[in-house]
Amino acid sequence: MKFFIDTANVDEIREAASLGLLDGVTTNPTLMAKEADKGKTFRQILEEICELVDGPISAEAVSLDFEGIMREARELAAIHKNIVVKIPAIPEGLKAVKALKEEGIRTNVTLIFSPTQALMAAKAGATFVSPFVGRLDDVSSGGMDMVAQIVRIFENYRFETEVLVASVRHPMHVLDAALMGAHVVTMPYKVLMQLFKHPLTDVGIERFLKDWEKVKK
Ligand code: G3P
Repeated sequence: MKFFIDTANVDEIREAASLGLLDGVTTNPTLMAKEADKGKTFRQILEEICELVDGPISAEAVSLDFEGIMREARELAAIHKNIVVKIPAIPEGLKAVKALKEEGIRTNVTLIFSPTQALMAAKAGATFVSPFVGRLDDVSSGGMDMVAQIVRIFENYRFETEVLVASVRHPMHVLDAALMGAHVVTMPYKVLMQLFKHPLTDVGIERFLKDWEKVKK
């Protein structure tokens, strides 16, 4: 299972990469906007991220028409070989996904809230689909139920498209994604660090260190 980090903050990405567990990065316009007031351009942030992580780096196109998406996608893909273009699950977006596949540009179809949106994105040739689980949970709909259905559909038809679980809010989303066989989970830095946490680990370390003091005497 691949671990991506869902942030445009280079300090967080550097820390996460240092763990040796990081396979890629996802960004979106909101995450980019959080970094924009630090004086860096969108392009500079992406270049820095590509220096830090040798894996797929998702950057989002914001055009909503086919020509605009194609233009942005080509510009983004030209920044670095690891850039994957995030495109919303709308008709113009999926037309672009198909055309970009023919050009060898990888895509991540985003803002997926139903299994049939994911099915269409896979048929169009998306490299990744991003079901947003937290935002579905927020409106009392089962985000992970959607993921289970997408995984099943992709297995049924042996699609190569990878299921990238997004809008992750807590470690249970990561656990459920792993149990369901999702290919990738992208998580905020906070959730990545929460995965390490267990009170018995802390208690165990404390006791071992205390006992080691007696051995040393
Ligand atoms: O990057 C897409 C997704 O992970 C956003 O998550 O927390 O804004 O719903 P969130």
